[in-house]
Amino acid sequence: MDRKITRNISQGMYVLTLDGAGCMVDAVSQVSYGDKPLISVAVNKDNYTNKAIKEKKKFALSVLPMDINGDIIETFGMHSSRDIDKFSKDWFDSVDGIKVIRDAIGCMILEVVDIIDTESHNLFIGRLVNALKYNDKKEMTYAYYQEHKDELIKVKTLNNKTAWICTICGYVYYGEELPDDFKCPNCGVGKELFEKKIN
Ligand SMILES: Cc1cc2nc3c(=O)[nH]c(=O)nc-3n(C[C@H](O)[C@H](O)[C@H](O)COP(=O)(O)O)c2cc1C
Repeated sequence: MDRKITRNISQGMYVLTLDGAGCMVDAVSQVSYGDKPLISVAVNKDNYTNKAIKEKKKFALSVLPMDINGDIIETFGMHSSRDIDKFSKDWFDSVDGIKVIRDAIGCMILEVVDIIDTESHNLFIGRLVNALKYNDKKEMTYAYYQEHKDELIKVKTLNNKTAWICTICGYVYYGEELPDDFKCPNCGVGKELFEKKIN
């Protein structure tokens, strides 16, 4: 089985935000059309953001352009709100009371109508209740990110902590050694695809 073929599924790059939580997502898909379409987002059950969505039932998706500041991807995609405040920088506007990325192409506000339980992720189905388009920039694709992630981001891990970084999705594991049977909680690859980073 060559699971690399799954990287040929076209996906975009989004920052999912809600009150006090947020993470990078690419697993976004339109489920239905019409005035108030349904959109699905798969969020790992271990993400801090997962619990927050279940509590608040409303979140925003900011659509990232090709020229987005890589620090935004790094902050939202490679760190957890358990460890850092992701909202300390001046990157945001507020829409319907939710902080969204100002330099995005636009944003969608979604209200959760259904939650599907899968092995590692919940699939949140949201109804589009508000949407703004700021510009006509070209969206960044996940494939582009995968090809250019070394130039786009320089992972800044927490000081004085040894970190292991997933070379596939950027997940950061803190600890001196990875457990023998370790699998990336985000993308499922084994420990051989992690690189050690010492601050
Ligand atoms: C490019 C990129 C795409 C990602 N896509 C997803 C995704 O679709 N679903 C998901 O659950 N996590 C995804 N992640 C991982 C989360 O953004 C990451 O684990 C984050 O640190 C979780 O933060 P939290 O614990 O504050 O929620 C992605 C990360 C990157 C860098």
